[in-house]
Amino acid sequence: MKPFYQKQLAERTPEHPPEHSKGAPPLTAKLAPWMRKLIEQPTLLRSWFDLYGCPLHVVVRGEFKRNVNDLLQAFVSRNVEGGLFFARKPNKLPWFVKMANDQNIGVDVASLEELQETLDLGVPPSKIIVTAIGKDKDILLLAINAGCKIVIDNCDELELVHTLSKSTNQMVSMGLRFSGFEVNGCKLFSRFGLPISDSYQIISSIKDNPLLNLEFLHTHLDRYDILQRACAARALIEVADTASKLGCHISFIDLGGGILVRYLDSEDEWNVFLQSLYASIKGEIPSFTYLNDGLGYNKIGAEIIGQPNFYPVWNTFSKERFITGILDHSQQGVPLHRELSQRKLKLFFEPGRCLLDNAGITLTKIVFRKRDTAGNLLLGTKINKTNVQPFSTEFCCDPIILSDKPRQSSTEGAFIVGNMCSEGDLIYLRKLQLQHLPQPGDIICFPNTAGYFAHHLETGSHGSSLPKNLLLDTDDWAVIDSI
Ligand SMILES: Cc1ncc(COP(=O)(O)O)c(C=O)c1O
Repeated sequence: MKPFYQKQLAERTPEHPPEHSKGAPPLTAKLAPWMRKLIEQPTLLRSWFDLYGCPLHVVVRGEFKRNVNDLLQAFVSRNVEGGLFFARKPNKLPWFVKMANDQNIGVDVASLEELQETLDLGVPPSKIIVTAIGKDKDILLLAINAGCKIVIDNCDELELVHTLSKSTNQMVSMGLRFSGFEVNGCKLFSRFGLPISDSYQIISSIKDNPLLNLEFLHTHLDRYDILQRACAARALIEVADTASKLGCHISFIDLGGGILVRYLDSEDEWNVFLQSLYASIKGEIPSFTYLNDGLGYNKIGAEIIGQPNFYPVWNTFSKERFITGILDHSQQGVPLHRELSQRKLKLFFEPGRCLLDNAGITLTKIVFRKRDTAGNLLLGTKINKTNVQPFSTEFCCDPIILSDKPRQSSTEGAFIVGNMCSEGDLIYLRKLQLQHLPQPGDIICFPNTAGYFAHHLETGSHGSSLPKNLLLDTDDWAVIDSI
């Protein structure tokens, strides 16, 4: 007779028949070569759990360097001057800030703490751009006294900078952040930035204060859209021309971050997943999401409304292709790169996520298997959803389960749940397809987590400390540093 716990796992409740339980169509992660090699060594990973605890975020530096070079190549290929400020907000580790400095690119900081640490790490102030939202006197004084570049988001900030420039008698290197660009006759919504329609008055008000050096114009657009960025760039070029007539020399335009990353291996898988999700929400095929979550879709009567709320994990315009796509955007036959180079205007971006592409993974262990009251198979893990949290509803990239020994084969899908005392602590809302039934102690690897997923929003579970971060040497798998 089977022991009680094995019976529990084998049983299915009547309202959850077997054909419902295979799981979502697979979304195979794009894996960097170092990740492929590392996941072949579960014993090594286990030894890190013993030394540093579980879960763990593991990062490498080589990929960051490769990403910097690839992005810069896009500028060289189009003969555009400018470069990158690494937006450090997607990853709090100082190692990448040092890498940015070693690679001779700038750093974008989003808080007083990030600014202070970036200065302490030896980044030259002139290569730091302060984009923080809600800049108060403390961060502005530090930035002004150090000589960093300051992005002004609103009139109160501008007023404060006026006042502080006078009280410190310091030159302020600053830029204006604008929003409200028109694309195909529609105004792009944003809560950030000054209205571009007010640019003339704003610039006129600045030029009376000789301590304010209006050096650049800035924007950051939320959507991953090449056309929107090209339109914004053209509008900012016009503002730069106006500023020049008003006697302000704009030396660069900064288009912010949001350069795309591709997370998946296969376009087909992505399309099948999207079609299957729609069909499952419509009720044409069995649901594969937790409690029938629409992941952005809603079913009202027979109608499906809404849009899936996902990062575009498959795309053909990632990284340098995104930049060249913007630079090649043509208006009346003139590509954007020519408009910039003719005026000797430099172009900068503030990439965060894409410089961290392929640079990290997150590891944890399976702690238990069980069924919920609906009969779903659950894999309990030593992690909570904030440790690998996307901004969108779901991270559409499958984890990898690593076992030391062969496991019983299984065609049943499972939900991966976290260790917070909350019904909603699911790591994925998708039921994941399994080939084998993992056992407690087996490892789960979440690929490509260094940009945002790991520790951007993370909390420990119920007082437990945050996961440790390991910096890895991919030549010999030595842990160079841990934080
Ligand atoms: C002003 C600004 N710059 C840069 C970034 C980085 O964006 P990403 O990591 O998508 O490249 C952000 C992200 O929110 C931002 O708000």
